[in-house]
Amino acid sequence: ISPVLVDTFNRRHNYLRISLTERCNLRCFYCMPSDGVELSPREHILTDDEVLRLATLFVKSGVTKIRLTGGEPTVRKGITNIVSQLNELRKVGLESIGMTSNGIALHRKLPSLIENGLTHLNISLDTLDPFKFQIMTRRMGHEAVLQSLESALSSKALSVKLNVVIIKGLNDNEVLDFLELTKEQDLSVRFIEFMPFAGNKWDKAKMVPSSELLARIATRHPCLVKASDELNDTARSYIIPGYRGSFGFISSMSDHFCGSCNRLRLTADGQIKVCLFDAKEISLRDRLRSGADDAELLRTIGLAVRGKQEKHAGMEDIDVVTNRPMILMEVECFFV
Ligand code: GTP
Ligand code: 5AD
Ligand code: SF4
Repeated sequence: ISPVLVDTFNRRHNYLRISLTERCNLRCFYCMPSDGVELSPREHILTDDEVLRLATLFVKSGVTKIRLTGGEPTVRKGITNIVSQLNELRKVGLESIGMTSNGIALHRKLPSLIENGLTHLNISLDTLDPFKFQIMTRRMGHEAVLQSLESALSSKALSVKLNVVIIKGLNDNEVLDFLELTKEQDLSVRFIEFMPFAGNKWDKAKMVPSSELLARIATRHPCLVKASDELNDTARSYIIPGYRGSFGFISSMSDHFCGSCNRLRLTADGQIKVCLFDAKEISLRDRLRSGADDAELLRTIGLAVRGKQEKHAGMEDIDVVTNRPMILMEVECFFV
């Protein structure tokens, strides 16, 4: 790995999350403020060529995993083409191409995405109840997500995970039902602690610590076994004997995993962001558009990486007000 991607705490950043769009076809309340978010002007969003140029630079510097996110990545025109071009980077060291999607518009695109190189798919689905789905996402489409999940699971070529954000009093009573999905399917279900970001009405009282969920699950499944985790995994995983899949917890709030963080993010508008909970960003787009060569872009990336803090501020201190929503930041959702 190039020293450019190693920070002052000796963390090696070989995992790049690329947000392809700030737009989303859902309005999950924990992600978007109810009055919506102001999107970047279209010309600020990286073009396909710019995404590819930066991705190539990162891979040549040592990134081996890329995950496409949003907003909702499937709403970006030409998504399959982007995947197919990223697939060419296997020749220079890229090992996996992942995507995190809400599954609404995925079903039809999935076969060509897989054919063009998609290897890992994380689908976000917080409830098995169509009515609750509508409340949580402020949109229809539960059936479409289930359909996407089903076709993803039927593909041997794909590793599939399900992301479930748990909100107290809303869907925390569905945890055992979600586990049943792993009985017959090679699926990893991850329960995610509700995280704060600008405008999402985060309330500690609505966050269910993973330890509490684990205790509840253990009452029903006393024989569950700890599975082994990769060093950089965000989730701590478990197996229920006799079940084909697994489940895990992403405890971003109660037990952060900053010490082993290997992630960098590229926002849809071309900023490099070294931490989900750090509002600091440096624009690679501006450098790129003013004609920077690779060496100059690498200097900028190195500067950002060396500025990465040891860990996020913790549950009490995260600057919820300035944290850009996950949907803008990166993702799907947007927080910091
Ligand atoms: P895998 O490569 O499958 O492990 O994906 P992932 O878990 O990194 O990505 P995904 O997009 O599925 O994100 C799931 C959840 O992981 C998010 O909702 C966050 O809670 C958490 N997460 C992802 N990246 C970060 C990060 O950089 N920092 C923190 N604190 N949490 C993160
Ligand atoms: N807290 C926890 N998870 C969140 N996500 C979006 N916003 C939040 C939040 N405030 C999740 C989405 C998706 C993943 C990438 O991030 O549900 O699964
Ligand atoms: Fe929901 Fe993800 Fe869309 Fe946010 S980006 S509204 S969490 S589907």
